[in-house]
Amino acid sequence: MTIRTLATLLLLAAASAAAPTPSRGQAAPPVRLVVNADQGRYTISRHVYGQFMEHLGHGIYDGVWTKDAAGQWHFRDDVVAALKKIRVPNVRWPGGCFADKYHWRDGVGPRAQRPSIVNTNWGNVTEDNSFGTHEYMELMQRLGAEPFIVGNVGSGSVQEMSDWWDYLNFPGASPMADLRRKNGREAPWNVRFWGVGNEPWGCGGNMRPEYYADVYKRYASFLSPYGATTPFRIAAGGYADNPRWTEVLMRDAGSMIDGIDLHYYTIVNNWTVKGSATGFGEKEWFKALKEAGRADEALTRHSTIMDQYDPRKRVALILGEWGIWHDVEPGTNPGFLFQQNTLRDAFVASVTLDILNHHADRVRMANIAQMINVLQAMILTRGDSMLLTPTYHVYEMYVPHQDATLLPMDGAAGAGSYHLGDDSIPAISASASRDREGRIHVTMSNLDPNRAQTVELELRGARASTVTGRILTAGAMNAHNTFAQPDIVKPAPFGGARVSGSTLTVQLPPKSIVALELR
Ligand code: AHR
Repeated sequence: MTIRTLATLLLLAAASAAAPTPSRGQAAPPVRLVVNADQGRYTISRHVYGQFMEHLGHGIYDGVWTKDAAGQWHFRDDVVAALKKIRVPNVRWPGGCFADKYHWRDGVGPRAQRPSIVNTNWGNVTEDNSFGTHEYMELMQRLGAEPFIVGNVGSGSVQEMSDWWDYLNFPGASPMADLRRKNGREAPWNVRFWGVGNEPWGCGGNMRPEYYADVYKRYASFLSPYGATTPFRIAAGGYADNPRWTEVLMRDAGSMIDGIDLHYYTIVNNWTVKGSATGFGEKEWFKALKEAGRADEALTRHSTIMDQYDPRKRVALILGEWGIWHDVEPGTNPGFLFQQNTLRDAFVASVTLDILNHHADRVRMANIAQMINVLQAMILTRGDSMLLTPTYHVYEMYVPHQDATLLPMDGAAGAGSYHLGDDSIPAISASASRDREGRIHVTMSNLDPNRAQTVELELRGARASTVTGRILTAGAMNAHNTFAQPDIVKPAPFGGARVSGSTLTVQLPPKSIVALELR
């Protein structure tokens, strides 16, 4: 941190500590932010905008892979087209907990001959394995996304995982590569992102970190580089309040790890009664956004541990599962984790994505849970209908940050104050980047559902003459899209920003998310 940055932060902290609790409707004092446009150092990896798709409920079946009246399986073109618009960079698959139950050979070869299994993690439904390796790889090709496969450690073997790796990647003649050819695919797919198990501290085998670190090394040893394909080996990480897991992995296996897959879910009440996705008041709005903001603390904590073993930041921290987890929609299968998605969820997304952007130095991949019909989804389907959720729209608005240079911001941590009762959280979440064409992109959210905010942003080291933008907001905190009314929450043009030289002024309405482009 520079002295200039420190001084700005201290001034901002002093100003916010002195601020009295405002009353509802009272104008908020302007929030001052500085974008250090001359200090861009890290790229915001597009892989931070990754998705997660598990064999769970209708995440795959009837989500993106469905059967027509004649019994023929096919991809849903409407869903694929919508996903292409948010430029999905990678999709984590086949789980989740399912990954440690999945035997890949069940999912290759003629579909009619594939065995069925019981999906014991998610509702004990019969899984017919009609969506397997070739179908997943075809989906990746249709989306233009990179595969991120999680291998089975919990109930699998080293041999099984290494055979899957060879099946996908070996270019020459070998038993596995020949089987791939027999099943219709000549060229290797060159898969590089590879997870060695999922949540081994829980559904993945209930292991101790010391034990898993050894197991990890065994499995990872048999993922061989082939030609242009070098494995990017991802160790299953812990969760926010388990720093010891990260510590032991880095200490005992760090030299063989390329990424650590940490999980962080936002829970409003508790794991038993999480709360309704749509029936909530301001207390639950506030709590959700406060908990979402804690992802920053978690990433800082785990990054700091990694810094001790890896000061050059070779090993990526990956937020491999994140999002808000509500109670399932009434009347739906509790094992299917199907939940609605409101404006509040859009804020969980914007706050988290801003945090991920700010951690670009160490966090180089993340996967929201989950892409379709499960937890904080982009898309919900029912029969032939489909709707885009408020979270989808945030992903679409944040596309320009993908692979852009992070422009560090002063004042972003703790900007403005949103008070509720005796508690307060920052009112403004924001991040900024510069794309390859030199345009600056700023995303900003006003978390306060009652008060507008004025943001005065200094572009230090840059000037702009035009600003254009879009806004995502709605009348109610729980506004959401339904199959009958799919466009209640969607982006609209935004006219509340002015730029003059290096000063940008933005008038943010209550509970609004904006994405701005400066030229
Ligand atoms: O995303 C749902 C589940 O949450 C995943 O299967 C598991 O990894 C996590 O606990």
